[in-house]
Amino acid sequence: MAHGRITGWATHLPERRLTNHDLAEFVDTTDEWIRERSGIAARHVDGKVTEMSTIAGRDALAMAGVDPTDVGLLLLATCSSDQQFPASASVVQHKLGLRCGAIDMNAACSGFVYGLVTAMQFTEGGVDTILLIGSDALSSVVDWTDRGTCVLFGDGAGAVVIQRSADSPTLLGWDLMSDGSAAGILSCEHGGKIFMNGKEVFRRAVLAMESAARNAMDRAGVTMDDITLVVPHQANIRIIDAAMKRLDIPREKAAMVLERTGNTSAASIPLALVDALDDDRVAPGDLMLMVGFGAGMSSAAAVIRWDPPSY
Ligand code: UT7
Repeated sequence: MAHGRITGWATHLPERRLTNHDLAEFVDTTDEWIRERSGIAARHVDGKVTEMSTIAGRDALAMAGVDPTDVGLLLLATCSSDQQFPASASVVQHKLGLRCGAIDMNAACSGFVYGLVTAMQFTEGGVDTILLIGSDALSSVVDWTDRGTCVLFGDGAGAVVIQRSADSPTLLGWDLMSDGSAAGILSCEHGGKIFMNGKEVFRRAVLAMESAARNAMDRAGVTMDDITLVVPHQANIRIIDAAMKRLDIPREKAAMVLERTGNTSAASIPLALVDALDDDRVAPGDLMLMVGFGAGMSSAAAVIRWDPPSY
């Protein structure tokens, strides 16, 4: 259990938008196939992790009313950093005028939930204010001739400000897992392009989401009935549906932006979260379940009691 409270949030998508119809002009695919197999209609491309993160981070800090110099730690979840080093977090730190430690965290599409759990531990350890960003630009590493992968991914960033609070805990239960034996089914070499065994990722993703969600809920001492909003990794509507079915949670409880963003990796959960918060889908005291999976194979889930900021 931890006491960090989300006090600001924001997202950013790069300007260039590619619909399925746009894609079909240079890849052997159709709008119908992509929608039916993935639930995706459009995605944004040509983003840069440092630029998207800076905009989302700046807007989240402004919403929280936090002066950049008061941020005690910057965590940037990404697997597509602009360069091998320095960390994109260092670049973002400078652009935002922060004076604190800054690290990239790579847990692929599970990165935001890994970051959230990590941030909450730092608040317990005495850091008052943390900026957590999930951002990926997978359009830079997809093979645009591979129709099995290029239709799925998009770019984006989502940021939250987490502040230590004396109130009752907000992170009630969590689960972080990695199965490195499956590292080869979804990967990208330095300087290379994404390789994916789609069927195997699909099969394992459903099981990993179910297991992570159950573990986090067990540790929180809650059941599916107690959860108001599920924020799943936005990879594929069929994966989300299958996992929700196994968990016996109705689809209506899921936050969903996949259709207009595609799979934005570490940005996908914060993009869906911010969309749901902006739509007032949770009230004070409601429980949210965030659950993701990704290359690694990593998986992560967190049960959060919503304790909104009072402005
Ligand atoms: O964050 C994690 C990221 N990864 C994922 O979430 C991926 C999980 N996997 C999936 O979402 C699905 O496996 C895919 C959407 C990638 C593929 O769906 P599928 O139902 O597993 O299709 P498939 O790979 O079995 O392919 C079926 C057919 C094949 O043609 P043939 O061999 O039956 O003639 C493919 O060549 O569909 C063909 N195909 C396409 N056709 C039109 C594959 N990609 C496309 C495409 N457009 N974009």
